[in-house]
Amino acid sequence: MNGVVLISGNGSNLQSLINKSNSIDLNISCVISNVPSAFGLERSTRSGIDTHTLNHKDYTSRHTFDNNLSEIINKYNPDIIILAGFMRILTEEFTKKYFGKILNIHPSLLPKFQGLDTHQRVIEAKEKKHGVSVHFVTEHLDGGPIIAQRVIDVLPSDDAESLAKKVLIEEHKIYPEVVQWYTSGRLKLDNDIVLLDNKPI
Ligand code: GRF
Repeated sequence: MNGVVLISGNGSNLQSLINKSNSIDLNISCVISNVPSAFGLERSTRSGIDTHTLNHKDYTSRHTFDNNLSEIINKYNPDIIILAGFMRILTEEFTKKYFGKILNIHPSLLPKFQGLDTHQRVIEAKEKKHGVSVHFVTEHLDGGPIIAQRVIDVLPSDDAESLAKKVLIEEHKIYPEVVQWYTSGRLKLDNDIVLLDNKPI
């Protein structure tokens, strides 16, 4: 399947998808970053992937930004749009246009800790468990139907930095796995129900 990956930063999740692209039947046809300095742009260029920057600071309206984003995406006619550390709220119009085709990875056990600074907030809340979620993207920020999660223990010695490292290790495993479910046709979104092999998850 043909995929477009959206990033904003380091792009380690992008790298894990690039590394496993053969085994997960994913052809990454294009990478787009809303941040010009994102290191992920170097990763995609190095791998010979079409790479675009769409600086959100050049836009006064979210609507115009998303329209331009769509224009680039549509040139590649992707089967799947993969948000990999894409730190930008998408408009309802955008999410509806690609309903059932957009995946996101979020560093918390959703629905807990939506939004930013999840690792620090987990420490402050004295949680015993933390982790990562992969979900379909809908108009609800970090609130779309959950596909899969991985849990890690929060140890007394942990801080936000150590949690981020441990969660990232899980992210790099779970995201390619879920993408492979999608590219092999096993994973679908039916209204708000996630189906794996035609059965609700
Ligand atoms: C990841 O923790 C991802 O879940 C979050 O931002 C981080 C991005 O990491 N949304 P990277 O850019 O893939 O290295």
